[in-house]
Amino acid sequence: MRALTVEPGRANSARVEDVPEPRREDGAVLVRTLSVGICGTDADIVAGEYGWAPPDRRRLILGHESIGQVEEAPAGSGFVAGDLVVGIVRRPDPVPCRYCGAGEWDMCSNGGYTERGIKQLDGYCSEYFRIEPEFAVRVDPALGHLGVLLEPASVLAKAWDHAERIGSRSSAWKPCTLLVTGAGPVGLLAALIGAQRGLDVHVFDRVIDGPKPRLVRDLGATYHAGELSDADGLAPDIVMECTGAAPVIVDAISWTAPSGITCLAGISSGQHRIGVDIDSLNRTMVLENDVVFGSVNANRSHYESAASILARADHEWLSRLISRRVALTQWEDALDRRPDDVKVVLDFTL
Ligand code: BGC
Repeated sequence: MRALTVEPGRANSARVEDVPEPRREDGAVLVRTLSVGICGTDADIVAGEYGWAPPDRRRLILGHESIGQVEEAPAGSGFVAGDLVVGIVRRPDPVPCRYCGAGEWDMCSNGGYTERGIKQLDGYCSEYFRIEPEFAVRVDPALGHLGVLLEPASVLAKAWDHAERIGSRSSAWKPCTLLVTGAGPVGLLAALIGAQRGLDVHVFDRVIDGPKPRLVRDLGATYHAGELSDADGLAPDIVMECTGAAPVIVDAISWTAPSGITCLAGISSGQHRIGVDIDSLNRTMVLENDVVFGSVNANRSHYESAASILARADHEWLSRLISRRVALTQWEDALDRRPDDVKVVLDFTL
């Protein structure tokens, strides 16, 4: 079967090649891939800056944002042929640590977790993949190919879950305003969740036209292009920081309302250094009970919340998040980011 593979650590080593069919021990459920989403993590792996091959191998099958159709599933697995499924990305560490042992592999504390398509486990960017039933999530058939948005939505469902748990430290907490920085797929999904929760949603991005401002406005949210400091008076109760850009992060943290909660959901490139006035940041954060926290990955409960978030969303709006569908053979095209791209997917049916 054909797969998109890469040698982690070696830039520009990705290629489509023939690989063996998935082995039975990789999981009892055999899935035919429909689409695989491409994100910044894939770009980093292809650039040789992230990712780990499986032990004793040099190459890794890429892809962690999946949607596929079950071809074969054993009786009692909870799946039948024809079901639409998405594969969970992370697997618990073998020790397991306290968190992995409790099914919260997204909180793994010893770093021994593995991730499909990212860390030591083959991903989903192959014509077929196998998966253990406990790591497959059924998708509403009405969602169809849009189920490829479930993995990024699960990451946001976790971020929201944790923001709300932190908020509940006060019984009087009632968030009204959400600020999202970055109108990429992650930011737009953060905004969708904020809109579903009835918040006054504000999204910042650099672009002034194209699909992103329209997507934001069609959620009933406000789009801002420019500097965060231009939005005088905006005092968000929650910030979902989705750019990973150092100056934006500092601004986002500094602009919250008292008791503000900032979630860092974007991963920085590690290449930018900026000066920060920790003294005044400390003063504000302590005197206002502010919280800044990081959030990565998702456990099964977050995939399930994400499934219901997507099921409740306007499917036409969701479909506009997918800017381009590209055939596997054109994978380089999919990785080449264009200004109007939100989410690009490799479509195995093309
Ligand atoms: C994925 C997460 C993963 C993270 C770090 C992200 O792109 O969506 O599932 O945990 O990368 O590897």
